Amino acid sequence: MVREIVVYPDKRLKLISKEVESFDGALHDLLDDMYETMCARNGVGLAAIQVDVDQRVLIINVPLEDKDVEHDQPKENTLEMINPVIVEKSGSEKFQEGCLSVPGFYEDVERFQYVKVEYFDRDGNKQTIESDAFLAIAMQHEVDHLDGKIFVEKLSYIKRKKFEKEWKRRLKES
Ligand code: CO
Repeated sequence: MVREIVVYPDKRLKLISKEVESFDGALHDLLDDMYETMCARNGVGLAAIQVDVDQRVLIINVPLEDKDVEHDQPKENTLEMINPVIVEKSGSEKFQEGCLSVPGFYEDVERFQYVKVEYFDRDGNKQTIESDAFLAIAMQHEVDHLDGKIFVEKLSYIKRKKFEKEWKRRLKES
């Protein structure tokens, strides 16, 4: 089921999400709904708080580069991370980011180039993943959501002011 996405500056996006304790059917339903919601909005990642669930759950699905496939984000390629913790990080990189909670806005953000993340999968098994590619950026963006942080908060003072002005105007128009 596609769920409604919480849009900036909704205060719910500032909540610190809670650790998941039971890896049950409700968690699996949430993960399945998050996948459908992310695909419906053409996103590459989604945190549970973006669908109004304050649990430390996120998904990422980096689209395949193969243009011939019918669907470039197959479900089996979805990285489902429960209670993720960044345990190693290094380097820095600037990359243009967007967010389903700030639809239509994209801006360069500085992140670590490499991260290693420990997390649990949907069945409660402990996993580790590392990346120095786009996935590294996506994981940092989504983990930030679990701590109530949105990428626009990482913009410089001037860019942030410009964004806030633009965003207010856009919200008024819609
Ligand atoms: Co986001």
